[in-house]
Amino acid sequence: MKAIQLTAPALTAFRQTELPEPKAGPGEVLLRLRAATLNYVDVAIATGSFPGAQFPMIPVADGAGEVAALGENVGGWAVGDRVVPHFMPNWQGGPITPHHVAALRGITLPGSLAEYVAVPAASLVALPAHLDFAQGAALPIAATTAWNAVRSAQVRPGSVVVLLGTGGVSIFALQFAKSSGATVIVASSSDEKLERARQLGADHLVNYRATPAWDEEVLNLTGGRGADLVVETVGDATFARALNAAAMGGTVFTVGFVSGTAAPIDLLPIIVKALRIIGNNTGSVADLAEAARAIAAHRIVPVIDRVFDIGETGAAYAELASGGRHFGKLAIAH
Ligand SMILES: NC(=O)c1ccc[n+]([C@@H]2O[C@H](COP(=O)([O-])OP(=O)(O)OC[C@H]3O[C@@H](n4cnc5c(N)ncnc54)[C@H](OP(=O)(O)O)[C@@H]3O)[C@@H](O)[C@H]2O)c1
Repeated sequence: MKAIQLTAPALTAFRQTELPEPKAGPGEVLLRLRAATLNYVDVAIATGSFPGAQFPMIPVADGAGEVAALGENVGGWAVGDRVVPHFMPNWQGGPITPHHVAALRGITLPGSLAEYVAVPAASLVALPAHLDFAQGAALPIAATTAWNAVRSAQVRPGSVVVLLGTGGVSIFALQFAKSSGATVIVASSSDEKLERARQLGADHLVNYRATPAWDEEVLNLTGGRGADLVVETVGDATFARALNAAAMGGTVFTVGFVSGTAAPIDLLPIIVKALRIIGNNTGSVADLAEAARAIAAHRIVPVIDRVFDIGETGAAYAELASGGRHFGKLAIAH
């Protein structure tokens, strides 16, 4: 089968190659992959800043495709079904364990830049009918994480949600928060992206370049109350402001590290405001299934900024690594 391998932790180390087609073992399904989407973690793997990968490897955590063959003892799926394989195939549900994080597609397991992959049938979720493969490939990491954020803070009409930037997680969080009736404040470096966020329903827009104290702007916009949920997708550069922007009893849902992880923390706002600082590592298959159901119910269409051909994999990675040009997700079709 045709595949792309990453031969070393370098953004220039992609090669097109031919590999033996995998076979579906007992309990597994063979997928014909059709699309992948990039997450920041893929860039982190390809720049050597995230541990766990052994090279050469088939990269990209997230994908979508069709069932091509069933292994023994597989029920519930048929050849031709359109499906999304979860990034963490061992994690069916419940609290996360070391066993779950040991098996990661595109890191310790083959990823999505190959014609075929064998995955556990229990790690599959049906692709919502209104989505194409590139849109569906955005679900495992970005949509599941955004769904967990919105669910963790019990977002409902009247909730105020703050989103940092306009990347994959933030835009899914915008779509889920609006479909839950929340008021959404988006901070971005770009007025053009803020306008696109407004078209998706964002209520208040803050350019964090023009207004570096975006947290104070959140307090102004909410009459001093702050946000019920801040989805912290950036990291050390924004964490202190995220604490300041949160309302009393609010949630700072901590997922991102695009700016780094060594955040200086003043404990006082956490203590005084009784904040909930919730860490998150993507989510389980059950979380992905819930996110997919919400997407189907609300007819949410994932925002794919651009679809690259698989031969342009290096360019797709370079686009994500450049940070800040894309809005929503970047996809690779094959
Ligand atoms: N732990 C988990 O469960 C989990 C799951 C998914 C993702 N993540 C992490 O979450 C982060 C975001 O992921 P993603 O896929 O959404 O990334 P992405 O698509 O690359 O988006 C990153 C966005 O961050 C914004 N940004 C950068 N610096 C900023 C700043 N100082 N203030 C506000 N916004 C800033 C930029 O938005 P603008 O261009 O609009 O300014 C940029 O587009 C990554 O670190 C990723 O690894 C974690």
